[in-house]
Amino acid sequence: MAHIELKGITKTFGNHVALKDLNIEIADGEFFVLLGQTGAGKTTTLRLIAALEKPTAGQILIDGQDVADWGAAERDVALVLQQYSLYPRYTVRENLEFPLKPRIRRVEPAEIKERVDRVAKTLRIEHLLDRKTDRLSGGEMQRVSIGRAIVRKPRVFLMDEPLSALDAKLREALRTELKNLQMNLGATFLFVTHDQIEAMSMGDKIGVLNNGHLVQTGTPHEIYNKPVNTFVARAVGSPPMNLIDGTLEGGEAVATEGYRLPLGQGHGIATDGRPLTFGIRPEDLFLDSGAPGEARVHDVENHGVEKIVTLRTGNGELLQATVPARTELEIDESVRFSWNPEKVVLFDGNSGVSLRYAS
Ligand SMILES: Nc1ncnc2c1ncn2[C@@H]1O[C@H](COP(=O)(O)OP(=O)(O)OP(=O)(O)O)[C@@H](O)[C@H]1O
Ligand SMILES: [Mg+2]
Repeated sequence: MAHIELKGITKTFGNHVALKDLNIEIADGEFFVLLGQTGAGKTTTLRLIAALEKPTAGQILIDGQDVADWGAAERDVALVLQQYSLYPRYTVRENLEFPLKPRIRRVEPAEIKERVDRVAKTLRIEHLLDRKTDRLSGGEMQRVSIGRAIVRKPRVFLMDEPLSALDAKLREALRTELKNLQMNLGATFLFVTHDQIEAMSMGDKIGVLNNGHLVQTGTPHEIYNKPVNTFVARAVGSPPMNLIDGTLEGGEAVATEGYRLPLGQGHGIATDGRPLTFGIRPEDLFLDSGAPGEARVHDVENHGVEKIVTLRTGNGELLQATVPARTELEIDESVRFSWNPEKVVLFDGNSGVSLRYAS
């Protein structure tokens, strides 16, 4: 369908810099998720691609062509917003037909019917086609909004947190549906969200945006396992990665809190005494009566298949570990812990940058 490239995009509003030197490449047929907190610049990025804003500097290329002078219609992108904007007094079928009706599109009536029926089937809203849209639930309305984008067969789908207003169950169901849809259509998707679970579960690639800066782009696996800095480490994973301040001493990690834990091979780039932050995911931290770390059980959350244990070490540092549900633990119980030495990520203690990417 389409390949999108943002090259050195900067966008300022007055003297506020909303986006700074953004470089993003989205492959044809890729599901790209832009993840960022409120005000990070996500909506601005979509609006620039949809021709609703002009960049202050930089270029937008669609299939290799600079689209600076192209209007919204020529760019042929569909924008789906968080708040659905449907025509309330019309039926679902009429709402789905609208995007195909403008004279410039010249779609034959038979084809309009066929496309609307196909989209309704894909989104499982066939039974709603004759209903007025103001009689629909939130999830149904959002399906219709997505349907309105799909009937047009745009080159690119831009989605601005389309699932955030829905309840958890519906959000999960629509997540799967959108992903299936993207695979069936082979379409290029740019989906923005502040929800890391959405990003991790849907994205072929994720771009992490912080304050208008793209901090890291990679597959969910890369973002999760090789975060470029402590910002990205905190941005994905629930519960988040544990970040432990300390130093290196004779090949071991020495936490500021006093305990020492082993490190695997490949950490030779760090020199003894350099201030570091050790990153370890909760699933790589474990309890074992013979382990070197000492802590007390601060809190236990039961999540069905597993428990999330919060440990309190020395002076009150809190660490989280996931343990099998059958593990019995009492609050304030004294436990010993260690980590998988091969899974530790080393960050510079001052800059927070992973030593994998800088030294
Ligand atoms: N038209 C505008 N005029 C002035 N400032 C703007 C305008 N549009 C956006 N901004 C500012 O640019 C920054 C980025 O806004 P944007 O809407 O892109 O953030 P976002 O990542 O979509 O946030 P949210 O998650 O809250 O939707 C914000 O600080 C916002 O206030
Ligand atoms: Mg926004």
